[in-house]
Amino acid sequence: MLITRCSTLLVLVSYFLISVSAPASATPATAEVAERVEVLLKKMTLQEKIGQLNQYSSTFDVTGPPPEDGAGLRRYEQIRTGQVGSMLNVLGADATRKAQALAVENSRLGIPMLFGYDVIHGYRTIFPVPLGETASWDLTTIEATARVAAIEAAAAGIHWTFAPMVDISRDARWGRIMEGAGEDPYLGARVAAARVHGFQGSDLAANDTIAACAKHFAAYGLAEAGRDYNVVDISMDTLHNVVLPPFRAAVDAGVLTVMNSFNEIGGTPATANSYLQRDLLKGQWGFDGFVVSDWGSIGELVPHGIAEDLEHAATQAIHAGSDMDMESSAYVTHLSALVESGEVDEALIDDAVRRILRVKFLLGLFEDPYRYSDSERESRLVSADEHHELARVAARKSIVLLKNDGPLLPLAKKSGTLAVIGPLAADKDSPLGSWRGTGVSDSAVSLLEGIEAAVGDKIEIQYAKGVDLGMGERSFIRELQINEDDTSGIAGAVALARNADRVVLALGEEAFQSGEGRSQAGIGLRGVQQQLLEAVLKANPRTVVVLMNGRPLEISWMAEHAPAILETWHLGSQAGHAIADVLFGDYNPGGKLPVSFPRHVGQEPLYYNHRSTGRPARGDDLVFWSHYTDIPNTPLFPFGFGLSYTTFEFSDLELSAETVGRDDRLEVAVTVRNTGQRTGVEVVQFYVRDLIGSVTRPILELKGFERIELEPGGVERVLFSIGVEDLAFYTAAKRWETESGVFEVSVGNSSVNRQSARFTLE
Ligand code: NOJ
Repeated sequence: MLITRCSTLLVLVSYFLISVSAPASATPATAEVAERVEVLLKKMTLQEKIGQLNQYSSTFDVTGPPPEDGAGLRRYEQIRTGQVGSMLNVLGADATRKAQALAVENSRLGIPMLFGYDVIHGYRTIFPVPLGETASWDLTTIEATARVAAIEAAAAGIHWTFAPMVDISRDARWGRIMEGAGEDPYLGARVAAARVHGFQGSDLAANDTIAACAKHFAAYGLAEAGRDYNVVDISMDTLHNVVLPPFRAAVDAGVLTVMNSFNEIGGTPATANSYLQRDLLKGQWGFDGFVVSDWGSIGELVPHGIAEDLEHAATQAIHAGSDMDMESSAYVTHLSALVESGEVDEALIDDAVRRILRVKFLLGLFEDPYRYSDSERESRLVSADEHHELARVAARKSIVLLKNDGPLLPLAKKSGTLAVIGPLAADKDSPLGSWRGTGVSDSAVSLLEGIEAAVGDKIEIQYAKGVDLGMGERSFIRELQINEDDTSGIAGAVALARNADRVVLALGEEAFQSGEGRSQAGIGLRGVQQQLLEAVLKANPRTVVVLMNGRPLEISWMAEHAPAILETWHLGSQAGHAIADVLFGDYNPGGKLPVSFPRHVGQEPLYYNHRSTGRPARGDDLVFWSHYTDIPNTPLFPFGFGLSYTTFEFSDLELSAETVGRDDRLEVAVTVRNTGQRTGVEVVQFYVRDLIGSVTRPILELKGFERIELEPGGVERVLFSIGVEDLAFYTAAKRWETESGVFEVSVGNSSVNRQSARFTLE
């Protein structure tokens, strides 16, 4: 619904896209694929069909000599006999080629395997964590980073990424909030579509595009108390209006696969949920790709307490529309007997096989099962210089300036001393974040390196770690040990701070503090970082705090006492350069928060688009309204918020009509002026409030945004256009429809700072 505009940046990124894309090869036509699928299906035995539904991880060496006994040997033989349709975590052109040969050259029908991997924010060149990248509000860049991730992964033999994660999350305690696009369904939907387009490109059969996977279907991000894998108990209203829009957008963008989720929703685990998978996704939405279970989620129907054993779990999952079994071995072990006993209709299996084969045909694997595994392309493209250039562009666009009193920023690149302090300041690993693909440990440009490269010998840089954050080994699968008591380095850091002209203090989270299984009850600065912060600020008030983290943090004390705060998330391979670009003013930050930052963890889940309650805020001191008695309801930093080194003024909000018919569109215009001294980017945000509905409605909903760049004194009239379909929601009639009535529209540069006007929809 947004107007399109051409910025220099867009041109730059489009140029980039064209220059790195490999020559296209046309995707086969739908009818032709369907016919080829049917021909193949007719040749398959029941066991071969079930094999297509079976996915294993490369937990044994598929490419070496056959294992001699046990589970490894069994799986090896299953691959050779067509019992494995897909594998995950087989990495690299050579390994995928060898593994593919096992299936293609040995099995009766030679059906190629599909190789999947979690390419979440980059394969080897690592881009900002998805939550951070969403703070750019730059769909072109978001699509471009997904495109490059696909180019690298495809060259290394990967056909399929388990991304994008499109789970809406409103709870900073949930560690996987870093992997999604934040709290808003509209922004989430736009980002979901951009990422799907980036991974899948315009030609699925090209050897540099990979299948995308919208996950986790559904509501995984709304786990109770923000605890990963926990129960979800939400209304149909929340399911349809909040959770599903990004999935729908991914399906409309042509996503080839969907992954279901570990959680239950109101008593039915997603993996056994026919309403979600059959009625909605494959039924009403017409999704013709396939659904993969999450890791072991079919087997988990047993501990969920709805299946007696693995066989029962397999029955429930196949009936509910889970097509591929990731690592439960439920289908490959039990489906054959279940079909023979009549408990499972073979037609269900045929449907799942058709869907999986279709994806394999679309990716061109039947033309050449090895076409993705190309070591020449792998060594040329993986971690290519241009990819790192894009990583730096994406990283600096993702930075959000939260506070800048003084203004202390940007720092001048002139003589003097700069103390660079903090447990994350010289850390070359944490900026890679969680889910970093094959990103090499300790390979990111650290903040310290970025600063040194930016200032050369113009400024004297002194570094002190101050405190350790995590202790011991860093691991994707093991708990991080946080340093809770060693403060011995603080005195040295304070001495540096005291003698420096300025201080940059890097605090936050190590890479594996957020991500899967990393829920936290507290979201403040962990360990002894707060002590370091207080001591450094006391020693030198000219301190800029650089935050690195995968989730919103509770930073109320910092927000009150530190003069300048930069939110830099986990920015990826080029983090240090990107942050230095912003610190020294070579890049003017324009990022905006895709998620609310709370004053206190007790406010979680916290989100701007909440509903009103019957007792909303009031201006007196009576207690009987919906509030906390110890802190305000409002966030510390709201959704959509972010400062710039320049200032923008909004004026002349104008609606094309006060009353519009159901076939009309309403045009909304606002003037934005750069009133400061620097060229800068503003994200102009367009919100709507539906004042009266058949069910209660959010107090505000994002419906559009436009990222504009203005020179000092520059003015732009920004237009939004809204039609009846943009106002639709899941109503009391349990339909997706638009209700007539009065709406308030507003435009501004955050969910709080807005100007508004009303119109009536007839
Ligand atoms: C479990 C995670 O929930 C899912 O997102 C991921 O794709 C699979 N593991 C495979 O690694």
